[in-house]
Amino acid sequence: MDNNRVYIFDTTLRDGEQVPGCQLNTVEKIQVAKALEELGVDVIEAGFPISSPGDFQSVVEISKAVTRPTICALTRAVEKDIDVAAESLRYARRGRIHTGIGTSDFHIRYKFNSTREEILERAVRAVKYARKFVEDVEFYAEDAGRTENEFLSRVVEAVIKAGATVVNIPDTTGYCLPEEYGAKIQYLMDHVDGIENAIISTHCHNDLGMATANTLSGVCHGARQCEVTLNGIGERAGNTSLEEVVMILRSHKELGLDTGVNSQRLYPCSRLVSNLMNMPVQPNKAIVGKNAFAHSSGIHQDGVLKNVQTYEIIDPQDVGIDHNSIVLTARSGHAALKHRLEVLGVKVDQQGLDRIYKEFLVLADKKKEIHDDDILMLSGADRAESRHIKVDWLQATSGIGMKPVASIGLDVAGEKFEAVATGNGPVDASIKALSKIVDRQVTINEFTIQGVSKGADDCCKVHMQVECDGRLYYGFGSSTDIVTASVDAYMDCINKFSR
Ligand code: KIV
Ligand code: ZN
Repeated sequence: MDNNRVYIFDTTLRDGEQVPGCQLNTVEKIQVAKALEELGVDVIEAGFPISSPGDFQSVVEISKAVTRPTICALTRAVEKDIDVAAESLRYARRGRIHTGIGTSDFHIRYKFNSTREEILERAVRAVKYARKFVEDVEFYAEDAGRTENEFLSRVVEAVIKAGATVVNIPDTTGYCLPEEYGAKIQYLMDHVDGIENAIISTHCHNDLGMATANTLSGVCHGARQCEVTLNGIGERAGNTSLEEVVMILRSHKELGLDTGVNSQRLYPCSRLVSNLMNMPVQPNKAIVGKNAFAHSSGIHQDGVLKNVQTYEIIDPQDVGIDHNSIVLTARSGHAALKHRLEVLGVKVDQQGLDRIYKEFLVLADKKKEIHDDDILMLSGADRAESRHIKVDWLQATSGIGMKPVASIGLDVAGEKFEAVATGNGPVDASIKALSKIVDRQVTINEFTIQGVSKGADDCCKVHMQVECDGRLYYGFGSSTDIVTASVDAYMDCINKFSR
């Protein structure tokens, strides 16, 4: 093993995909997995196969579609889970089972109503059982961040003896301080007999905003695998962000550590995941945020113009941001669109290309230049076609000195309905009109509108979270018209419960 090499274990499709409203179907997961392969990650955690038939199938299909990285499947320390994970990995060229159990006293007492000795025994049993199916077994000590170091080292030593090739030390609750997490890894390095026989892995959550700092601290104390997600997505405040870890190691050459990631694929992969999951990237997000390389203050602009290194520590092109990227227009043909989609990591067949090209021409009619984000948005637009309730037409009027009013025509499984309503704005009026037809108690909890590229003729994306009968639903819409995009996002939500 090259001791300067840090392995990148991507869990966008498992821990990342647990974010409410971000679930992908199998085809979309394969698209992300292929993009991750091209990015150069070492391991793809493809799912938690026992959790649902969809997750199981995704691991099967990703194992067939992707050949270079190791494909990993998550389990609890339960034989049935391991059986199902092994079955899901049957097509993987290199398969890994990731099994584990909670090791903190909180987990032992309250989750398992058990004892340390019993947990230790279950951990060893699970690893030995998983080794019957695959040679590569990773063990996770859930809530290791709050597990007492002496007991944690006993667990780690026992699972390595039982055959674990990688041991994951998750800071499940995102509680540790960077010094504390680094010291924990160091403690294991110093106290575990046989530690050289396994790779120690970091898995940090961002609840206190320290996931990347903790991961780096772990690596500086001997961990050689980092579990990360694109854009740092994940439940609650998310996981460690892949792009941050990769670019920190690349920027700080004095650490003498590097990954196998092709950094020029970072930005396209980030956009792809954001687009497929309908999860906007915050503009000031490090490395992949819209503003990450935008200098607006006069002093900065002056310095950058004289020498970019005055204020820029990374060349945007090194992470795949190409300010000169070709902008498509209404005169661009199928081939140019196909090429641009491929650069963005979207592979489509002829039928898909024809569908996107048709929508592209409609959009190009409305705005002069079509940017990469517009294209990514179009590539996901066919999801609306399978809806049970569709908007036939919509007219909304608003202005100064008048009451906003909207009328709408809906097609509900082939039956036609019309309604009119007023509201405090055109969006409110449209949704009120729509609600007269779809008579359910719906509360909009979240409603964000974001421009895709730039200009007054820009497309906008709307993300919505609504609550109906105590359950949450997520919707997405996009258009050059903000009322249409908002209604589209609302329709996306209500189609999920109005079947
Ligand atoms: O955060 C965590 O502890 C996890 C484990 C299941 C690996 O995601
Ligand atoms: Zn996690």
